Amino acid sequence: MIGLFDRLARPLLGLLDAENAHRLAVQGLKLAPRGPAHGDDARLSVRVFGLNFPNPVGMAAGFDKHGEVPDALLRLGFGFVEVGTVTPRPQAGNPRPRLFRLPSDQGVINRLGFNSEGAQAVLARLAARAGSGGLVGVNVGANKESPDRIADYVSLIETFAPVASYFTVNISSPNTPGLRDLQQGQLFDELLARVVDARARVSRQAGLTPLLVKIAPDLTLNELDDVVGAARRRRVDGMIVGNTTLARPPSLKDAKTAKEAGGLSGRPLFALSTRMLAETYVRAEGAFPLVGTGGIDSGRTALAKIRAGASLVQLYSSLVFRGLGLVGDIKAELVKELSRNRHVSLPELVGADAAAMTAESWPR
Ligand SMILES: Cc1cc2nc3c(=O)[nH]c(=O)nc-3n(C[C@H](O)[C@H](O)[C@H](O)COP(=O)(O)O)c2cc1C
Repeated sequence: MIGLFDRLARPLLGLLDAENAHRLAVQGLKLAPRGPAHGDDARLSVRVFGLNFPNPVGMAAGFDKHGEVPDALLRLGFGFVEVGTVTPRPQAGNPRPRLFRLPSDQGVINRLGFNSEGAQAVLARLAARAGSGGLVGVNVGANKESPDRIADYVSLIETFAPVASYFTVNISSPNTPGLRDLQQGQLFDELLARVVDARARVSRQAGLTPLLVKIAPDLTLNELDDVVGAARRRRVDGMIVGNTTLARPPSLKDAKTAKEAGGLSGRPLFALSTRMLAETYVRAEGAFPLVGTGGIDSGRTALAKIRAGASLVQLYSSLVFRGLGLVGDIKAELVKELSRNRHVSLPELVGADAAAMTAESWPR
């Protein structure tokens, strides 16, 4: 089914404006047959922040922003799906065009700016699938015009607690002016205090939902010291490293498109985001697990993320170029790696290369 979808749809999708192609892919997934998902090899199952993942390969936030197709994505083989970013009130995001492909670089630039149908629409969809099983995280963000952005995160945690497998507090989108300031010093600590408190309040009905923070790969190492220190003190359950980058590596070939404003993702993000992952891993010292995101497009790159410190991985941009069959390919390559060395399990590989990576020269 995936092969057929990829073969029929991808050449067509490639001709469309990137955002129309994305819309069509989501609509296509809504129509996908509902057969049972293939079971995963038992060696891929991992337990992270108290949840049992059938495999460690997740759909990153931004593909299913409005919670329209989480079950179709789970059936395609993802071990978990992160819907969102969801904002409390609906908002349109930035004017189009706002999504660009860099085919020669296998990269994507987006400045969508949190286009969201809003909390109530997404909640209705997730409530309708309650009890269907599968891990579906909810990525939350603030409205652009909100007078109290931290209050937005608090309200979303209260709203989605009954339906979220975990929460991601997204303070690292580069496309909402000022949002990344929430990663700084006092403000970050206040944010964490209030979201951790909100999560504790709603836990009486919903149980203690794991709370993750998603950071930018563009933090300085001093800023990363502070962010990890505060997250440890406030006992968050995990961190996603990371979001898209404002950097433009000098190696980019699609030079004209590279000038578009927005966050860069895909292959050109791999080196930076993997280095930041390793830097986060050595600072976290096992206090919480990490999700590695940025430029994964093969089993080899997924494994590199795991060895840099990721207990779970997520991907998005490479699906634009490689199609949905990539998920199965990555899992097969991970199983092959585990078969090569029968004594090793995935958790034993987590962070194996982190310390060595932090000694390398900084990626450009
Ligand atoms: C079109 C697009 C939209 C995105 N939207 C979101 C979003 O709403 N929230 C978020 O946390 N990350 C968002 N991201 C970032 C991804 O979740 C991911 O962190 C980043 O793209 C790096 O992974 P990748 O290189 O595999 O794409 C978006 C990425 C893309 C390409």
